[in-house]
Amino acid sequence: MNLDTDHQLPASETLDMSSPEAKRAAYELLSSQCAALFEHERDGLANHSQFAALIFNALPDLNWAGFYLAHGEELVLGPFQGKVACVRIPFDRGVCGAAARTRAVQIVKDVHAFPGHIACDSASRSELVVPILVNGQLLGVFDLDSPIEGRFDPIDAQGISRLLETLVERSNPIGAHQEGGQFGGR
Ligand code: SME
Repeated sequence: MNLDTDHQLPASETLDMSSPEAKRAAYELLSSQCAALFEHERDGLANHSQFAALIFNALPDLNWAGFYLAHGEELVLGPFQGKVACVRIPFDRGVCGAAARTRAVQIVKDVHAFPGHIACDSASRSELVVPILVNGQLLGVFDLDSPIEGRFDPIDAQGISRLLETLVERSNPIGAHQEGGQFGGR
């Protein structure tokens, strides 16, 4: 996967993540691509949308990748790539709700074994959800789904967390934390 030299945009090729070393190298590359993507643009909606597209296309074996944004005790669907998904998730439901409630990364090897898992796409077998905290406040979560059991490990969790830090540092906030609330309530 190389940067398009004319536009400095990442090409949409899937990265090799077949070994821990390859996976670490892939996240290093994604880190510099994120920095390049957000270098001249702070628009929150544009950058979060780009982030979802970058991850969905670069990581192997995903069937969904995107944001759920915190609105009170509920998560509301944000920019994503993949099939149409459920829009509102209360904090007491599903893997995303657990990440929002506990503010801890959730790595689920087999979603069928997770009590309360919400099956937006029946193809999903494993899931990684990373909470996004800004100045101690929960902005939302970033959710990745895979059709492969046990697809995600701590290297993915650490890699995605780091990429999200770059996104948040370099973008205006979206969701309830944006002034005026772009993805407002009901
Ligand atoms: N499976 C998630 C719901 C979101 S979809 O996967 C896009 C969950 O249990 O929280």
